[in-house]
Amino acid sequence: MKIIDLTSENSRAVEQTAMLLVDGFSDTGSTSWRNLDDALSEVRESFQPERISRIAVDEAGNVQGWIGGLEEYEGNVWELHPLVVRQDCRKRGVGRALVLDFEKQVAQRGGHTIRLGTDDENYSTSIGGADLYPGVLDKLRAIQNLRQHPFEFYRKLGFEIVGVIPDANGFGKPDILMAKRIKNPAMNGKNTKRTSSAKRDNAELDDMQTEYKFDYSKAKPNRFAERVYKNRRVVILDADISKVFTSTESVNAVLRALIATMPKAAKAKAKRKPSRRSVSPSREAVAA
Ligand SMILES: CC(C)(COP(=O)(O)OP(=O)(O)OC[C@H]1O[C@@H](n2cnc3c(N)ncnc32)[C@H](O)[C@@H]1OP(=O)(O)O)[C@@H](O)C(=O)NCCC(=O)NCCS
Repeated sequence: MKIIDLTSENSRAVEQTAMLLVDGFSDTGSTSWRNLDDALSEVRESFQPERISRIAVDEAGNVQGWIGGLEEYEGNVWELHPLVVRQDCRKRGVGRALVLDFEKQVAQRGGHTIRLGTDDENYSTSIGGADLYPGVLDKLRAIQNLRQHPFEFYRKLGFEIVGVIPDANGFGKPDILMAKRIKNPAMNGKNTKRTSSAKRDNAELDDMQTEYKFDYSKAKPNRFAERVYKNRRVVILDADISKVFTSTESVNAVLRALIATMPKAAKAKAKRKPSRRSVSPSREAVAA
């Protein structure tokens, strides 16, 4: 078995994945993807940008499972949706492999958290078929798996229950919310660099420490900063002027128009000696 991207060009896999979706959720009480058309639209949606769509295939290229994901919270969090393994391939590690692969995909894209909602629509947990109010969280804390509800599968893979939407799918049919941190968000930006090699990314993740202590005593000022600001000047606009000219661009545009109307000698003087003004608290700085 290997895990690969599901692409629109792979029409056989697209069709098998849609069939898998219809068949895989048929015994969960879900009202989603009752027919092939609905399932095909869901599969096609997964080809959009900012999505993850991966399939587990056997040696002959037949689809054994599918996992999808959507970027949220500016890429910090990814929603895992959906996950399904072919009935005859279950309990053989395909689901686990898909989730672990998904975690790597999310980490490579800079995400640090995966979240998901797992519905209980056929009363297979102790919180299904019940009124969760009042004391929703107490009932959630005491949740029991009555009939192979997948929340336990996710728990085995390190996900925690982080909430519940009571009656999400009708009275007594809650959506159980789960999440997993896949890397320390404090490291974001320092460990999210994309490289041409997925292998290198994974090695970086494996090497990650829970906390990094940097020694700033030998830090030097940014030697490129001077180049960026060379020949630029910060001036202070009086309060009445700064109300009218609210951006660097607008100030520059007006001053350029003014320079164009000035006699040559004055222009040269203006270039040599930029005027300086005193500062008062009701003035704003503008980079010109
Ligand atoms: C949930 C599902 C994806 C699991 O896939 P799978 O390939 O059977 O899972 P794995 O074989 O990788 O199982 C990993 C572990 O979770 C356990 N597990 C799997 N399904 C479980 C379930 N429904 N309840 C409790 N434990 C479960 C396995 O026994 C295994 O435990 P182990 O590590 O102690 O041996 C699959 O049953 C499925 O497609 N279900 C229908 C669709 C669905 O409910 N998707 C999730 C919607 S949020």
